[in-house]
Amino acid sequence: ALTRPLDRPVVLVGLMGAGKTAVGRRLAARLGLTFADADHEIEAAAGRSVAAIFAELGEPAFRDGERRVIARLLDSGRGVIATGGGAFVDPQTRAAVKERAISIWLRADVDLLVKRTSRSSRRPLLKRGDPFAILTDLAAQRNPIYAEADLIVDSVDISPERMVDRVLAAL
Ligand code: S3P
Repeated sequence: ALTRPLDRPVVLVGLMGAGKTAVGRRLAARLGLTFADADHEIEAAAGRSVAAIFAELGEPAFRDGERRVIARLLDSGRGVIATGGGAFVDPQTRAAVKERAISIWLRADVDLLVKRTSRSSRRPLLKRGDPFAILTDLAAQRNPIYAEADLIVDSVDISPERMVDRVLAAL
């Protein structure tokens, strides 16, 4: 359990549907810290949705914006930051997060990710084909990279508040 004050931001990483936003928001509330969602910040800066950025500006433009937004959030110091699933995969972002934050991988089975992401259709990467196949591929590519996070917490099918309990126990 947490016996010391957090001197660095907490950054949640992991695949789409792992619960980064739902858990991050509640974790911040429990710790009395600010919460920021990187996707939301990118949308605010671009004045359009993630799906529209992908469609109208392309994925590379989204990734540039993501890198800048996360650098700015890290600069702002303490707080909980939920990243988009691709953020920690970017070497520059990963290096900055490793250096300046406590990173936590919310690790989940593909079945759970599919179940959770099927409730909404706002994720452009999952519209490119069968979500189970896409998430299986992304897990194979990215899990070894997410494993570089400082802490790993298994994301299972329990409420976000119970997930926060697990994260707090790991911190
Ligand atoms: C992405 C994940 C999304 C969003 C974008 C790309 C990815 O964020 O950033 O659609 O590459 O995994 P969530 O993980 O919050 O869904």
